[in-house]
Amino acid sequence: MKYESIGSISLPKIGFGTWKIGGGSNANHSLDLQSLAALRSALELGYIHIDTAETYGAGHTEELVGQAIRGSGIKRETFFITSKVKPEHLQYDAVLKSCEGSLRRLGLEYLDLYLIHWPSSGMNLAESFRALNKLVRDGKVLHLGVSNFNLKLLKQSQELAETPLLTDQVPYSIFDRTYAKNGVLEYCQNNNILLTAYSPVGQGHFPVNKTLMSMAEKHKVTPYQIALAWLVIQPRVIAIPMSFDPQHQKENFDAAEIELNSDEIEQLDPMG
Ligand SMILES: NC(=O)c1ccc[n+]([C@@H]2O[C@H](COP(=O)([O-])OP(=O)(O)OC[C@H]3O[C@@H](n4cnc5c(N)ncnc54)[C@H](OP(=O)(O)O)[C@@H]3O)[C@@H](O)[C@H]2O)c1
Repeated sequence: MKYESIGSISLPKIGFGTWKIGGGSNANHSLDLQSLAALRSALELGYIHIDTAETYGAGHTEELVGQAIRGSGIKRETFFITSKVKPEHLQYDAVLKSCEGSLRRLGLEYLDLYLIHWPSSGMNLAESFRALNKLVRDGKVLHLGVSNFNLKLLKQSQELAETPLLTDQVPYSIFDRTYAKNGVLEYCQNNNILLTAYSPVGQGHFPVNKTLMSMAEKHKVTPYQIALAWLVIQPRVIAIPMSFDPQHQKENFDAAEIELNSDEIEQLDPMG
């Protein structure tokens, strides 16, 4: 696995997403066996950055992540656990309460990274960051970040955070360049902020074209792996694909090792 380092923090280029594990917007207990099996195989493969959120499965996903971590026998310190506070909970007391809830469901004493999941129209960002900064001071959270924030909001957040803002988690893939076009990617790269690419394999619905196919054949990998390799070859970019399928999980994990040459990158760059 290749890593992206910022100061003393080193994060794997490929982490594991958990949206749909344990349910979507609501808990789906009928998926528990399948969800726990997916989490177990991801941890066995060596994924250590796990991305979750209080909204996933209405909190149930965090419970399953916690269960899988405890069951793995792997030390807490090995993992890098990200969770997120939802836009309806951005008032001072609500942020503190949300974090407590995530910690309780995960069974953890601290989160490695805590993000504002989405901006909300009526939010008071200064108030939210007062609470987030307190969580860091109290040792409940090690690092802060945001998600789905445009450049203006990202810069405001940087000003309000008492510690360096670690990431903006946004949709980014070979076929979705919204956050490259709106300036967030370049800003992150020039300001030591990670861009965490979510939906990095297009939620499993890539329009696989001839270029991706032939490059995949040449490297003896899949087009999805080429798409991931193209993402994480970029400085300051990490990705968090989700998969229930152990084979896909392994392919995604291994994609960071694929060496694309400059000709190949030039062919992939204009694809978005
Ligand atoms: N911050 C936010 O607002 C936000 C929004 C969306 C997502 N996220 C985070 O980002 C994570 C990833 O995004 P996502 O789940 O939306 O989309 P994604 O990772 O791009 O796609 C997941 C889908 O792609 C399939 N897939 C994964 N790897 C594959 C492979 N190698 N070959 C073929 N199919 C593959 C999976 O099916 P199988 O299970 O069959 O492999 C699954 O249906 C989420 O789980 C979540 O943690 C954050």
